[in-house]
Amino acid sequence: EAPAPLAPEASQAVSEAPPISKEVTILYGSQTGNAQSLAENAGKTLEGKGFEVTVSSMSDFKPKNLKKVENLLIIVSTHGEGEPPDNAISFHEFLHGRRAPKLDDLRFSVLALGDTSYEFFCQTGKEFDQRLQDLGGTRLYDRVDCDLDFDEPAAEWLEGVIAGLNQGQGGSIEATPSATVAAPQAVETNYSRSNPFQAEVLENINLNGRGSNKETRHLELSLEGSGLVYEPGDSLGVYPVNDPALVSELLEELKWNPDETVEVKGENLTLKEALTKNFEITVLSKPLLEKATGFSDNENLNELLAPGNEDKAKEYINGRDLIDLVRDFGPWNASPQEFVSILRKIPARLYSISSSLNAYPDEVHLTIGAVRYEAHGRERNGVCSILCSERLQPGDTVPVYVQNNQNFKLPENPETPIIMVGPGTGIAPFRSFMQEREEIGAEGKSWVFFGEQHFVTDFLYQTEWQNWLSEGVLTKMDVAFSRDTDEKVYVQHRMLENSKELFQWLQEGAVFYVCGDEKKMAHDVHSTLIEIIEKEGGMSREKAEEYLADMQQQKRYQRDVY
Ligand code: 2AM
Repeated sequence: EAPAPLAPEASQAVSEAPPISKEVTILYGSQTGNAQSLAENAGKTLEGKGFEVTVSSMSDFKPKNLKKVENLLIIVSTHGEGEPPDNAISFHEFLHGRRAPKLDDLRFSVLALGDTSYEFFCQTGKEFDQRLQDLGGTRLYDRVDCDLDFDEPAAEWLEGVIAGLNQGQGGSIEATPSATVAAPQAVETNYSRSNPFQAEVLENINLNGRGSNKETRHLELSLEGSGLVYEPGDSLGVYPVNDPALVSELLEELKWNPDETVEVKGENLTLKEALTKNFEITVLSKPLLEKATGFSDNENLNELLAPGNEDKAKEYINGRDLIDLVRDFGPWNASPQEFVSILRKIPARLYSISSSLNAYPDEVHLTIGAVRYEAHGRERNGVCSILCSERLQPGDTVPVYVQNNQNFKLPENPETPIIMVGPGTGIAPFRSFMQEREEIGAEGKSWVFFGEQHFVTDFLYQTEWQNWLSEGVLTKMDVAFSRDTDEKVYVQHRMLENSKELFQWLQEGAVFYVCGDEKKMAHDVHSTLIEIIEKEGGMSREKAEEYLADMQQQKRYQRDVY
């Protein structure tokens, strides 16, 4: 567009102004909040360099505005089996649909977040990248795919993007190599994902009764002195350490001296320390197997990675750990230093916070299910959950950070009704919601659906729920104990039994929340919700799906699933 002619007296001032800013739109698709943090930080960095930046969730972005965008940055994670995060679904669909515009003038770059231990690593980012090219866009910097430890590659991507943006500008805006995209905190604290706070354990109890199949830990941690704050719906990142027994077993298998020194990021540690605190030893991935081939001549390993054997490799990786790998494919000819260099940094585990800061100042509570199972002839333990259940004592400390989750928030208006579906540990954020609503004296109606195996042993926070109900903080409670009756009853059955009233609440503007197991529970709850809308709203299936999609768009259908 040609600039409007300037009034003579204005032209002088304009010519002395800094170089014209360049428009950049950053769209993120984020499930747990990482992509959003990165997008917001990239936005700040670019603004600091004189760009005119718009940062938006994909779900808030109006697709018709895409034609007006000159420089598009996409930051998106991949969820489940290669699916887009909830707030990326509609934009992803639009872009891949027939209404997608030609984008010949668009310059773009994609930052993809993912996890190499999943088959469809960074799939959503790859799809956006390919599609934007197919629609005519030009890459201003090549896509970068990040594994769980994303800080460094994300910072490098941003540097590349800045250089790319400047090229189109004739170099008028300087790129500096200092661009950083460390995880942000919207609050006054020095603590973050890359600099976690050592939180003291105040309380650690088992919520399940004797004889239960489950063990659910209720953990209370102190945030005193950290400056960390959180809102209901946010998560806490916890950095675990590996089980010392597992580390010993691995070292015995490798026949290495636990006290041998290795260097990790410029620091000298004993091998035992490094394997306990720094590296992931309980998960295999294809990239790890590929790197391991460099240290083994074992034909079976090469065979497993040969073209055509993808399914076999996938099946091998599933449920096995580093001890299996070392046992199955020796002899190994790596030094301890070489060996640790192929391992991934131990990632933090995210848990939905189960307390409200207003109710418990300076504290954060977690509700963690202990993960134990048998696979391939050995007992396996969840790294963090078993640390919490077996080794973490009051007085110990554990490194934590707050992960904001804008996708799971109480409605701003305290009068808005809420419906909460949270079987098992999925109940965690709803305890936080109730504490908060009680503290602020919210008047909105609330309805909880809880499910577990047995009433007697597994009703998590039973007395708290009953108190909220009798005090009227909670309006309605429906529970489904699946193994107390001959036939299984689940939360979605309780929803169906109450379909009329549930639809009425939706019509009144209620926000519907689901937290917990994704693949089975949240999927079934989703179908049931559509069924209820169809039946009670007298709609076709298509219309009911649209109704739910609209709710999602209005942030009235929110999911925190794993
Ligand atoms: P089950 O273990 O008896 O199958 C918390 O784990 C509760 O969720 C348990 O009662 C569990 O029942 C139940 N659950 C299992 N699969 C489910 C599904 N697809 N939908 C809803 N609840 C489910």
